Amino acid sequence: MTTVDGAGSVELEIEIEAIEAKALALVEAAHSSAELAEVETAVLGKRSAFSEAHRRLGALEREVARRVGRSLNEARSRVHAAVVARREVLVAAERAAALEADRLDLTEVVGSAVRAPIERGARHVVTKTREELEDVFVGMGFTVAEGPETETDWYNFEGLNMPPAHPARAMFDTFYLDLGAPETVLLRTHTSPVQVHLMEEAVEHGTLPIHAVMPGRCYRRDTPDARHIPIFHQVEGLVVDREVSFGDLAGTIETFTTAYFGPDIHSRLRPAYFPFTEPSAEYEVTCQICLGAGCRTCSNSGWVELGGCGMVDPAVFEAVGIDPDEWSGFAFGFGIDRLAFMRHRFPDLRALVENDVRFLRQF
Ligand code: DAH
Repeated sequence: MTTVDGAGSVELEIEIEAIEAKALALVEAAHSSAELAEVETAVLGKRSAFSEAHRRLGALEREVARRVGRSLNEARSRVHAAVVARREVLVAAERAAALEADRLDLTEVVGSAVRAPIERGARHVVTKTREELEDVFVGMGFTVAEGPETETDWYNFEGLNMPPAHPARAMFDTFYLDLGAPETVLLRTHTSPVQVHLMEEAVEHGTLPIHAVMPGRCYRRDTPDARHIPIFHQVEGLVVDREVSFGDLAGTIETFTTAYFGPDIHSRLRPAYFPFTEPSAEYEVTCQICLGAGCRTCSNSGWVELGGCGMVDPAVFEAVGIDPDEWSGFAFGFGIDRLAFMRHRFPDLRALVENDVRFLRQF
């Protein structure tokens, strides 16, 4: 049955096919979900070609209109399904792109690390020297002990036979802490106060004799120069036993000196004064620079002073409650930085605290 309306329906059906094909092409061509939203309105909305075609159904015979209307609805649904499918693809791609944009690009960091590997640090020359000294003394039968860097006046001075206003206090330019009564708490100016701690503990626990070395950091208000730094290191030694002699002290020091410096370097003791030892001596070693011939470093004497030593003063024993008639002892104290300075012959002590890797990496 071909009527005018029937012929009109054929035309319309062909048009619907064309509308669908064009709509599907537009949907596929959309490259973002925003673009797709615009396409969706254009191909399925009220002003779309589909809506226009729908309005034209009214001019058709009822039966024909129903049939063409069905194909139009089917075409619309296919386009709608295509929009939904396309949206899924575009949204997924957009999410992936957003994640990619948020990613931290570490390739440069990793790459530069590969080119210039991070160098491994090493122990400081003072730390190494301290450990070598400890090894030498442990080999001679000493134990290693430590004490606090913050001290009271008692341990740093008074217990070492330097009562208030004792002139020997002038040897130590002291950093006092703003704690308690004025000038009662300080940064230790030497490692000798650890002797007092060890003797007090040995008396308390009944553990005499003592054969100990005590390395550690010390502080003095010195202006830094080639031979002085205000924070430095010492190693203290203390022997408290029965019938200890000055010969034991001299022998210990000579043994230590050749063990640390090698067989060409010797020690000598020259009379000196320290309030905590009697008799007292200055400890000197052969100048490493001129090997004893005389040079600027040793003021042409051939010897360099590294520390002090002596027999423990009976006043110190009495201060800590040790009977000086039963016990005797010797003590010594050297600068660790100065020992390293002598042995490695670097020109300026300040290099130890300047953190220049060109200096530090040599040891
Ligand atoms: N404590 C002294 C100083 O820093 C060095 C010293 C001298 C330590 C004689 C001693 C000693 O143990 O017996 O100058």
